[in-house]
Amino acid sequence: MKLLAPSILSADFWHLGKQVEAVIRGGADLIHFDVMDGHFVPNITFGPVLLESIKNHCNLLLDAHLMIDNADMYIPEFVKAGADWISVHIENNPHIHRTLQLIKDLGAKAGVAINPGTSLSAIEEALHYADFVLLMSVNPGFGGQRFIERSIERLRRLRQMVDSINPSILIEIDGGIKLENLEEVALAGADVFVIGSGIFSSDNVEEQTRRIKRKLIS
Ligand code: DX5
Ligand code: ZN
Repeated sequence: MKLLAPSILSADFWHLGKQVEAVIRGGADLIHFDVMDGHFVPNITFGPVLLESIKNHCNLLLDAHLMIDNADMYIPEFVKAGADWISVHIENNPHIHRTLQLIKDLGAKAGVAINPGTSLSAIEEALHYADFVLLMSVNPGFGGQRFIERSIERLRRLRQMVDSINPSILIEIDGGIKLENLEEVALAGADVFVIGSGIFSSDNVEEQTRRIKRKLIS
């Protein structure tokens, strides 16, 4: 099954509630939150307070992509705020077993995220105990960047690794996904599609979500 996770990073924050309602009506499966701290990535976004306020009005799963240092320190707060899925980066979480275990012990799904420049072999061991992998197809930090083509090859390889090591893992792809490259990315093996600007830059967010969802399930 293919799941759609709109990233609110590219939403119009003045109308955030309305835009979240629009993606829900359009068929979103999860809401993706890009949490950035200005240290691990050169941008600052939002924290658990925002998740909590959306959680109170929405039944969808909340997916927190933590692009922050000292993730272990903040994970309990994100779970408390309502995060159902939490991913942390392999690049700045050397004790990945402990960190993923912490997420699971708190009752959320644990994901390992990997940057475009990091060898897939870095997460091979974590595939034995992660619930999902988040494969970055742009360098993290900003919405609206161009898809790095090499990600298709990486996705195919990751699919093979997951199928042979732990087929229950979901592969989430994040960055530069649009209606136009959705099919290619789906064929390469992704299960969960994070889309920010490809949804929120549209004049009709609901209809754009529906179009993308339709293509994913066709
Ligand atoms: C980048 C974030 C992505 C990003 C996706 O650091 O992890 O989730 O917002 O946005 P688009 O779809 O615009 O590339
Ligand atoms: Zn993300």
